[in-house]
Amino acid sequence: MKVIPGLEGIAVAETDLSLVDGQKGLLLYRGHLVKKLAVSHSFEEVVYLLWMGQLPSEKEREDFQRLLSENRALPEHIYKLIIQISSRADLMTVLRTAISALPLTNDWPPTLEQGAKVLAVIPTMISCWYHQVQGTDIPVIRQDLNHTAHYLYLLKGQEPSEAHVRALNAYLILTAEHGMNASTFAARVVTSTQSDLLSALTAAVGALKGPLHGGAPSEVEEMLDEIRSAESAESWMRARLESGERLMGFGHRVYKTQDPRAQALRQISEELSVEDDWFQLALETEQTALRLLEEYKPGRRLYTNVEFFAAAVLRAVGLPKALYTPTFALSRTAGWCAHIFDQADHNRIIRPQSLYTGTIPQED
Ligand code: SDX
Repeated sequence: MKVIPGLEGIAVAETDLSLVDGQKGLLLYRGHLVKKLAVSHSFEEVVYLLWMGQLPSEKEREDFQRLLSENRALPEHIYKLIIQISSRADLMTVLRTAISALPLTNDWPPTLEQGAKVLAVIPTMISCWYHQVQGTDIPVIRQDLNHTAHYLYLLKGQEPSEAHVRALNAYLILTAEHGMNASTFAARVVTSTQSDLLSALTAAVGALKGPLHGGAPSEVEEMLDEIRSAESAESWMRARLESGERLMGFGHRVYKTQDPRAQALRQISEELSVEDDWFQLALETEQTALRLLEEYKPGRRLYTNVEFFAAAVLRAVGLPKALYTPTFALSRTAGWCAHIFDQADHNRIIRPQSLYTGTIPQED
């Protein structure tokens, strides 16, 4: 029996949900190029594609959009729970807790309607925490705005600009699904025991919270805030690499070439923030980081990953750093649910082994 650290290169399922081709830098959802979907479809249409296997007709889109918009309100006990823990819990902890307490039945197999009800209410959970921490009022829920526009409206209390909706919609689509990443695998393991959808999503949120996975975009912003100028980027990053630490926003288990999402998000953030000094610093810091990574880690093929320019886009549409990873969870709930349904469809409990290195008592 051979131990494969981190299950690197091990396939644990067959699925037509998505293709993450790390050699070609290609990402497909159900056979569609994600970079094209990001600029030609709404987040809801792509969620429908992931869950149903094909893009919706006009009527199917309207019905799905209505199912989401009719389920945006927070149950009273969830609202009280969020208010009660907001002052001493970060938002990913609040999301993990609030999702686990939603009043959904333990149906088996998990249903699309359950998935839609969770997806619909996450923006409201985020805005509830945000306004509680800010000391501002939560805007009245509306049903006439799509998922992306309504999320920005819930945070800002006014209708967002077309440019911000377009940019965030593209971000949500680009980060909705990504094969067997750590948080999706966590959701599949829980589903494989025939546990419920909320338990699987709670496990996924817990996994995404980690800085090596979904926790990276806010660390990218913190890195740029500490670096402050292009002149100090090299010394700051050398110190970090010398101490064996990682540069957030670089490297990937699968992509050994440019992450296609990073390319798409770089272009979106260029359109949004080309005059912004912070963004110019980001572009220069990226080039310095890539040069230093080749110097310190030659041959590891460490490229810019999705998180580096995710920080730039989320910052450009006006989200505070504390909302970066929760917004990633908002989008990835689409992929998590798709994999939960996929796992339940042809299920077998996920149960690898471990290689025992301890002692074995002599038989007396
Ligand atoms: C996401 O899996 C997914 O699909 C994830 C994701 C998704 O959409 O779900 O794409 C989202 O999680 C993106 C990644 C966000 N995380 C970060 O930006 C954190 C920084 N990156 C890393 O810690 C790292 O690159 C990982 C965790 C992303 C990947 O780690 P691996 O594949 O396990 O690589 P490794 O730890 O085995 O590293 C290989 C070598 C090591 O050096 P040596 O031990 O061989 O000397 O490369 C080095 C590492 O030290 N290395 C880095 C580095 N990433 C890897 N060195 C410095 N900075 C980095 N960022």
